[in-house]
Amino acid sequence: MATAASPNARGTKLTSLPLAPGPRYATPFGFLRELRADSLGYLGWLQREYGDVVCMRMGHMRSYFVARPECVRHVLVGNHRNYEKGNLFAKMKAVAGDGLLFSEGEAWRQQRRWVAPAFQRSQVQGVVPVMGCVMGECLGRWEREYAGGESFDLVPEMSRLALDMVCRAMFGAETPGASFHRLVDEGIAFSNYLVNNFATPPLWVPTRRNRAARRALAGIHGTIRDMVESARARRGDGADLLRLLMEARDEDTGARMSETQLLDQMITLLVAGHETTAMNLSWALYLLGQDPESTARLRSEVDTVLGDGDPSAAELGRLEFTLHVVKESLRLYPPVWALPRQSIEADELGGFRIPRRTMVTMSPWIVHRHPEFWEEPERFDPDRFRPERSQDRPRHAYFPFGAGGRSCVGEDFALLEATLVLAMTLRRFDVEVVAEHLVEPDPILTLRPRNGIRVRLAARDSGRLAMRRG
Ligand code: HEM
Repeated sequence: MATAASPNARGTKLTSLPLAPGPRYATPFGFLRELRADSLGYLGWLQREYGDVVCMRMGHMRSYFVARPECVRHVLVGNHRNYEKGNLFAKMKAVAGDGLLFSEGEAWRQQRRWVAPAFQRSQVQGVVPVMGCVMGECLGRWEREYAGGESFDLVPEMSRLALDMVCRAMFGAETPGASFHRLVDEGIAFSNYLVNNFATPPLWVPTRRNRAARRALAGIHGTIRDMVESARARRGDGADLLRLLMEARDEDTGARMSETQLLDQMITLLVAGHETTAMNLSWALYLLGQDPESTARLRSEVDTVLGDGDPSAAELGRLEFTLHVVKESLRLYPPVWALPRQSIEADELGGFRIPRRTMVTMSPWIVHRHPEFWEEPERFDPDRFRPERSQDRPRHAYFPFGAGGRSCVGEDFALLEATLVLAMTLRRFDVEVVAEHLVEPDPILTLRPRNGIRVRLAARDSGRLAMRRG
């Protein structure tokens, strides 16, 4: 690890490197005010105004924003030991538990050794039949509830679907009731409040909001404990990933997870695996809703490969264009729109000095639109993920799932789920996005559509959109 006076790879002393250009603020609040007013617009402005490595000076503090693939690689892969999530997420632990997402160092390595094997592609492929079943039930419900052609908000529907997928395909549990959905929604809303507000009272302070959050968290914990009990009672039945977690042993030490560690992992997986996927699915259907040509191509692929039956993992693997639609949606609307890290020691990024204990933020939203690496970056063009068009692109110009050792453990689960959901939805329905409803990205904990996305469904074989009401 480099110290401030130590030479970098080219032999230059880090202290002799300049700080990157960037704006000055009297206090950190000046910067936060700009960011809160329009985070995505502001990050875009910083990049246009100052370049791909920007240093925000806030009184005595410095904070970096970097937008080059090689800098992303350096922070997340090459020199990852010099960067931690630090206390940036400390308050999130109160909600999401001390699981894989927010732990550091040896505690994180141990947890990753427990959790990662359960999410290997071969294991995830084993739960595709359950995913198909969950989706089939969801389509049946939509047919009953929205057959009249009334418009509805897609986002809560996708949140409900993604939560059902986590509970049933990941944890092998029953479909959760409406009260559990409400509790999880409250948990997510509370997380958004924590991330959005600089100074929040610790959870033990009995404010009205904290008391409500504590009640929601206690309810979520109780339901998750029940899921573990049922998994124990099932003993060997079913292909759920929870059993793999319960039986996980560290290959080197033979250590197993304690009950508390298991619950923390499950809360983390629930939070990390549900909200992100729901947002990806919502944005993907929104984008397709405006691109009849891509929708027709996706359908023709689905009709050829899947026919009428429930999809198998092998068939899903042949839905190449559908997967490219998922990837392109993750490019334009990455649910994790910013990845912050904190340097431990001083470092060099893009020829500039990064002081020790300095925040470095990388934004997939910005890098995924970098004109040097993406042709017509604002255009929805799933074919840009064809091998012949991707081979010359730097690998870290695209990082919706992060990169390096701390990249998303659920990537295969998420891609398989999204491919299945898009394929089965568009096989059954025409999805019309209501044009008069303004859709805007709202970057909070994840990139949510502000005011939702209103759509109408019509059974595909009806040959026309159902009568428009709502
Ligand atoms: C489209 C869906 C998803 C997206 C865009 C996404 C994105 C990400 C990103 C960007 C990270 C890295 C965060 C960082 O480096 O700071 C991450 C980590 C993580 N994700 Fe996902 N994720 C998705 C779905 C899932 C699913 C389905 C699961 C559940 C299995 C999951 C579980 C996790 C966990 C546990 C981590 C922490 C990994 C670690 O630190 O070792 N994610 N995800």
